[in-house]
Amino acid sequence: MLRLLTALCLCVTAAPSWAEGDAARGERAFSKCSACHSIDHPRTRLGPHLMGVVGRPAGAVADYKYSQAMKDAGGNGLVWTEEKLHAFLYSPKKTVPGTAMRFFGLWSDGEIDDLIAYLKTVQAPE
Ligand code: HEC
Repeated sequence: MLRLLTALCLCVTAAPSWAEGDAARGERAFSKCSACHSIDHPRTRLGPHLMGVVGRPAGAVADYKYSQAMKDAGGNGLVWTEEKLHAFLYSPKKTVPGTAMRFFGLWSDGEIDDLIAYLKTVQAPE
C-alpha cells in the first residue's frame, strides 16, 4: 500500500497540471489564433488584438466591438490572469458564457501553458 502511494505521489510530481510553458512552442501554437487575433500590431481582426493581454481586463480594447457577455465579464472584474486565460482557452464558453469567440480548442494543458508563456512575452502597445 505504501509503495502504491509513493508511486502515485511520484506520478503527480512528474506531471504537474500547472507547468511553466515554453514560449517558443507557444509562438508556433499561436498559429491557431492568428486567423482571428493579431499579436504584432494593435489591429482588429475577427477578434481583438492580444498584445499585452496577460493581466489585461476582459473586454478592454477600446475600438473592438465585444459581445455583451465579454463586456459584462470585464465589468464584473474579470482580468486575464494566467489562470483565467487557461480556463478560457480550454473552454471559452464555460468561462465566459455567451462569448463570441468560437474556438473548439482541443488543447492539452501543456499546449495552453506554452501559449500563455508566449503571450506573456508580448508587451501591450504604447
Ligand atoms: C475563429 C476566430 C477566433 C479564434 C481562432 C480565436 N479567437 Fe480569441 N476571440 C475571438 C473573438 C471574436 C473574441 C471576442 C469575444 C467576445 O467579444 O465575446 C475573442 C476574444 C479572445 C480573448 C479575450 C480578449 C479580451 O480583450 O478580452 C482572448 C484572451 C482570446 N480571444 C484568446 C485567443 C487565443 C489565445 C486563441 C488561440 C488559441 C484564440 N483566441 C483563437 C475569435 C477567435
